[in-house]
Order: sequence, then C-alpha cells, then structure tokens
Amino acid sequence: MDLGCWPGGWLQVASATVGPKGKVVGVDKAAIDPPLEIPNCESVVGDLEDPKLCEQVLPLLGGLAGLILCDAAPKLTGVRAVDRANEERLLEAVEMQIPLLLQEGGDFLVKILDGPEAQIVDRRIRMKFRAAKTVKSKATRKGSTERYLFAKGYRGAKDTIEAPPEPEADATDEP
Ligand SMILES: C[S@@+](CC[C@H](N)C(=O)[O-])C[C@H]1O[C@@H](n2cnc3c(N)ncnc32)[C@H](O)[C@@H]1O
Repeated sequence: MDLGCWPGGWLQVASATVGPKGKVVGVDKAAIDPPLEIPNCESVVGDLEDPKLCEQVLPLLGGLAGLILCDAAPKLTGVRAVDRANEERLLEAVEMQIPLLLQEGGDFLVKILDGPEAQIVDRRIRMKFRAAKTVKSKATRKGSTERYLFAKGYRGAKDTIEAPPEPEADATDEP
C-alpha cells in the first residue's frame, strides 16, 4: 500500500517489485490523471486523516497490507508554524492507520519531517515493530528535515509495547 501516492512514481516501482502475483493500492487526496495503466496496481482518491479509509482501500487490496509505504506530505503554506502543525497532524493520522491497514509481521516505511512532535511519534511507531532504522534518501534536498523511518515486523495491535512517557520539561529529582 502506498499512502500519499500522487503522481505515482513509487507506485510504478512497487508494482514492478511485487510482480504480477502481487497487488499495490495507492491513496492520495489528488487523483492520478491519466490513471497509471498497470494491471497489478490501483489508486484511489482518499484522505489519510479519514479513520474509515480502510473501508475504501482494503477491499481493493484483498486484505491487510504486507508493506505500507508513506511519502505523504501536506502542501506548504509558507508559514512555518502552520506547516509544522499540518505535518505533525498528518504523521499522527498515518500512525493511526497502521493497525487498520497493516498485517501482523508487516513492514512500514514512512517519511518524517523532523520536529519535536515528530520525534515523539517516531518513538511510538518504533515500539509497534520488532526492528526499525532511520534512512536518508540521496534525493533529499540539502538542509531538509526529511528522513524516512523503516520499521520491520509489525507487532500487531494487541502486542504493541507502550512507549515510555516523555520526561516532563521541568521535572527534577526532588520529591
Ligand atoms: C511527495 S508527494 C508523493 C510522491 C509519490 N511518492 C510519488 O512517488 O509519486 C506527497 C503526496 O502526499 C499527499 N497527501 C498529503 N496529505 C494527504 C492526505 N491527508 N491524504 C492523502 N494524501 C495526502 C499529497 O497530495 C501529495 O501528492
């Protein structure tokens, strides 16, 4: 499954990688037009912030995904605080999609635009998987906060280890 798939570059690579016996479904707010004419690949218009997205995409995939790719990023407004809030909200929405879309044992690659809240979500996501690492793409612009978190072996909704609470900013050792 490819979340934030428009205009379809990753879909083309994913569909070639899974081959004719595999299936790839992409989701984006924007329609791929003209559609990619690839037999093992479909794309739908949908919102990653919609908790009912699974009802739209799982029937197309035929079940939970073995791998989720997510390169989604909100449109930039140019106002840093607004952009950061939009990025954080989207990342949290994508995190909420994991138990709805990914099969136990499945893998997850997600773009992270770094910031304090994103680091908290990053830590939470890592706890849901057996192994995880950060990957930097050679295509990322110099100075960009973009990185990818690659997490392998989803523990499943019931087997997720809770992330330890964040230390409070003004916490001291005193009683
Ligand atoms: C960098 S592009 C993805 C490029 C894609 N990986 C490719 O290879 O062609 C990011 C995409 O995320 C999508 N996006 C951002 N927020 C979204 C949301 N809430 N729901 C669905 N798609 C979203 C945007 O519409 C945009 O097309």
